Amino acid sequence: MDTALVAWSSRIENRIQTGEQYWDLACALRQIASALRPQNFLEIGVRLGKTSAMVAATAPEVSIAAFDLWISPYAGVDNPGPDFVRQQLAGVGHTGELVFFSGDSRHTVPQYFAANPDRTFDIVNVDGDHSDEGAWVDLTNVAEYVAAGGYLLFDDLTNPQHTLLPVWRRFQVQYGDRFDFVENLKDHYGTGVARRRY
Ligand SMILES: C[S@@+](CC[C@H](N)C(=O)[O-])C[C@H]1O[C@@H](n2cnc3c(N)ncnc32)[C@H](O)[C@@H]1O
Repeated sequence: MDTALVAWSSRIENRIQTGEQYWDLACALRQIASALRPQNFLEIGVRLGKTSAMVAATAPEVSIAAFDLWISPYAGVDNPGPDFVRQQLAGVGHTGELVFFSGDSRHTVPQYFAANPDRTFDIVNVDGDHSDEGAWVDLTNVAEYVAAGGYLLFDDLTNPQHTLLPVWRRFQVQYGDRFDFVENLKDHYGTGVARRRY
């Protein structure tokens, strides 16, 4: 059992009951997918499919490109891989294309865009390699492929096990001419959202 997921669900339920404001990566994905009705979604760091499910449940026909190294166990829990995620997404009604790219995203993402140079994505979630360098490589590998008006999300800005806030700050400086930003450093482990300008 994923105890972190159980704790997360009960926190969300509690916030709904108390009416206290709260948003995290999953909430942001759900909200953005609902407003944008994306045609496609790229995720680096899929794990058990929680965040992919937020988009898939909201936009069932969305086409998903799913990148993961399937490190297992991850956070003390099995990370079973594509078949499990496929089942989970079917369970929330996903009917769109779902393609997995298994391996280190430092290599698989550039390989993907070398083969698909004109492809852009309405929503991109970077939540894979949590090292400073790995996260930076992922962010900069996907940034130019976020569609105009589309969104790039980045998680764990304040997670004490990582040091990703400076990585996000660096991204904001380097890509500030192409994106507008909002973030929440208060709830959960901190979430950054960037919207690609037209
Ligand atoms: C934090 S979990 C993703 C959680 C998921 N987005 C969610 O919220 O439900 C991180 C995932 O990234 C994967 N990962 C870690 N390093 C990676 C790398 N270099 N390339 C691809 N995936 C990686 C792990 O296997 C793990 O499944």
